[in-house]
Amino acid sequence: MQEILKQLEEKRAAARAGGGQRRVDAQHAKGRLTARERIELLLDPDSFEEWDMFVEHRSSEFGMQDQKIPGDGVVTGYGTVNGRLVFVFSQDFTVFGGSLSEAHAEKICKVMDHAMKVGAPVIGINDSGGARIQEGVASLAGYAEVFQRNIMASGVVPQISLVMGACAGGAVYSPAMTDFIFMVKDSSYMFVTGPDVVRTVTHENVTHEQLGGAVTHSQKSGVADLAFENDVEALLQVRRFIDFVPSSNRETAPPRPTPDPIDREEDSLDTLVPANPNKPYDMHELIAKVVDEGDFFELQPGYARNIIIGLGRMGGDTVGIVANQPMVLAGCLDIDSSRKAARFVRFCDCFNIPIVTFVDVPGFLPGTAQEYGAIIKHGAKLLFAYGEATVPKITVITRKAYGGAYDVMSSKHIRGDVNFAWPSAEIAVMGPKGAVEIIFRADIGDQQKIAERTEEYRKRFANPFVAGARGFIDDVILPHATRKRICRSLAMLRDKKLENPWKKHDNIPL
Ligand code: HXC
Repeated sequence: MQEILKQLEEKRAAARAGGGQRRVDAQHAKGRLTARERIELLLDPDSFEEWDMFVEHRSSEFGMQDQKIPGDGVVTGYGTVNGRLVFVFSQDFTVFGGSLSEAHAEKICKVMDHAMKVGAPVIGINDSGGARIQEGVASLAGYAEVFQRNIMASGVVPQISLVMGACAGGAVYSPAMTDFIFMVKDSSYMFVTGPDVVRTVTHENVTHEQLGGAVTHSQKSGVADLAFENDVEALLQVRRFIDFVPSSNRETAPPRPTPDPIDREEDSLDTLVPANPNKPYDMHELIAKVVDEGDFFELQPGYARNIIIGLGRMGGDTVGIVANQPMVLAGCLDIDSSRKAARFVRFCDCFNIPIVTFVDVPGFLPGTAQEYGAIIKHGAKLLFAYGEATVPKITVITRKAYGGAYDVMSSKHIRGDVNFAWPSAEIAVMGPKGAVEIIFRADIGDQQKIAERTEEYRKRFANPFVAGARGFIDDVILPHATRKRICRSLAMLRDKKLENPWKKHDNIPL
């Protein structure tokens, strides 16, 4: 017995030591925490239950039989975040560069399987050189096993990826299939092939940072949802984020009681929309003023900034917010913003999160770049996502709702449950100037006539009452009462039940 206990202690110590002090120091020198330090910060104190500390790889190629480290490069188990169960895996870069062996993959799969069984989020901390090169196809098989579970878990339990080191090859595809990716600036990278391969194949010279750094992915590619300053900030923000989401698709997000009254009025909103319809204003201001205590967790703030997405609470319950941003591209919908919002709408719908949409959209962005880039298909994603969503959907048109973009942005016709407009709303097929130039083309040389026609069109259509007369808008509300009206609508919709017709799955335009 004594001997076994001694062995146990030795094995535990070996697992905790990972790849040894030299490699741990190297990890720290890069400003990165170790796999275990990250888990410690992520989970509630003393809540981590570790599994599979004694798992070792089974490879014997390239002298690997003599290089075995208990745990095999990934720390796995479960614990709590603010008292709620989460499963976690954290790759240990100090052990074979966090690379994924068959055994390493089995450990990840085990926590994913349990998370699915009990209905709890999976948080993956990725810091890995990809497939373990010494294992060949066995590690590729391991990756595919993880991928398959990512796919099966999608829409069942929230999956969140922290990318906290250089992730290459297979190490990027598992995060890509999870719901959210959080990265760390100047310290984490994601690429399918690294700068050296890029140089050989395309003769482009790029740094790691330019090719796949946190800024690149949170501003250019949209692969990452957020980029943080360091490991500590990223981990603490994931803790905050988890509070907003339900544990599984069988639950709703945990309510958080708030001292913020649901009927709080915000007089400043009455002057938010400028008198000049071409003048922008910051939609963030509206969001901050209507959600509980101004607490809004924005996602992808640096990518496709013409649309804002994120989670907040109203009356204590989580809502997903989608809002056009008139400050960027006048709030037009384009390829990137359509993709960004569509995926978010689908996330909310998977996990029973009501969607509140603020609309100020002059239309789809015109141009060859958009058409050649398939705006038709990408714009359709957002339309499809809203139309198939069965969660409560509340829409507030603050100003422009023109053309197809009116239909797309959670209109009544695609099952918006409650559709409000502010008095400043303009709802029509297109803006007054464009409309007049088409229907009165013959008068284009006559400035005075065009001005008169434009004014006539503006009076006739650039208001909320034409849509209101048809019941497409349920009410025209005063901006200061926006929070109250949304909160009441959410309460009314709490027991909403709506099912789509049976199908294996839909065929969203990808
Ligand atoms: C085994 C690996 C490894 C790997 C790194 N190491 N990657 N061991 N398999 N894939 C080991 C190194 O040998 C080294 O061991 C230690 O980890 C640290 O690596 P360094 O290169 O010294 O670190 P760094 O300079 O920080 O560079 C990190 C890196 C680089 C950018 C990740 O190591 C790298 O490019 N690795 C290979 C990436 C790759 O091509 N992976 C395979 C992709 S194919 P010592 O003992 O010296 O500490 C793939 C297929 C899946 O993933 C496809 C599914 C769709």
